[in-house]
Amino acid sequence: MKIPNEAPIGVIDSGVGGLTVVKEMHQFLPDETIIYIGDDARCPYGPRSVEEVKEFTLEMADALADMGIKMLVVACNTATAVTLDMLRERYPFPVLGVIEPGARAAVHVSSTGSIAVLGTVGTIKSKAYEYAITSISANAEIIPLACPEFVPLVESGQYRQMDIRPIMKRSLEPIVHLEFDTAILGCTHYPLLQDQIQEQLPIGVNIVSSAYETVRDVENTLSEFGVANISGGRKEPIFFTTGNLDGFKSIAIDWLGIENPDVRHIVL
Ligand code: DGL
Repeated sequence: MKIPNEAPIGVIDSGVGGLTVVKEMHQFLPDETIIYIGDDARCPYGPRSVEEVKEFTLEMADALADMGIKMLVVACNTATAVTLDMLRERYPFPVLGVIEPGARAAVHVSSTGSIAVLGTVGTIKSKAYEYAITSISANAEIIPLACPEFVPLVESGQYRQMDIRPIMKRSLEPIVHLEFDTAILGCTHYPLLQDQIQEQLPIGVNIVSSAYETVRDVENTLSEFGVANISGGRKEPIFFTTGNLDGFKSIAIDWLGIENPDVRHIVL
């Protein structure tokens, strides 16, 4: 049975990081209804085992499949790195990740081919960016760096309340003296820290996030499968969190500029 074009697009992340992708989707595809699940109660996924990330991601994806989505966007690098193939086999609808779009964007803007990848421990360990980048540009040189302190700063809201510069400095220290012209924010939480990251990196380094490029993929997939919502009218996203409603809401208001976002609790 064909899923109706008016069906929502599902978006998942371990927490609020996927909102950086929702922001672009809401702006560029306002006719589409977005249903988002953030697993804030079990965030961060970065330090977890592959088995745990698979299990938790499946729970979110299954919940959205039960709600009748027409497409799934895995707006989490850690989950994309280890679950994308499995999810694509499991569901009848298209499943998109954020790593391939991020890699493509970085190769496009880098003129030296030296690209730093900032990500969670899980993403860096998976080498998913190395594979994605070198499959587009075989001679690219990758400088990987895990930044395990970044996600908790975002989830707790501390990035808006305290001076996080010492943490940023310490985390980025291992790469600041190396030669690269582009840095990928290889975690969807990191665009919320973009200014502070940029401040620590050498002047002139391009910062790339996969959000914009991922939305181009969503748009192309909608048209390839003939499932774009042409019913017209701007739709407001619906957000589910496994964690704290107020914390999620305040970051959603701040980041998305939606006055009173529809945030609900979900048990997975
Ligand atoms: N925002 C996610 C990512 O893109 C996950 C961060 C985490 O839970 O550690 O990797």
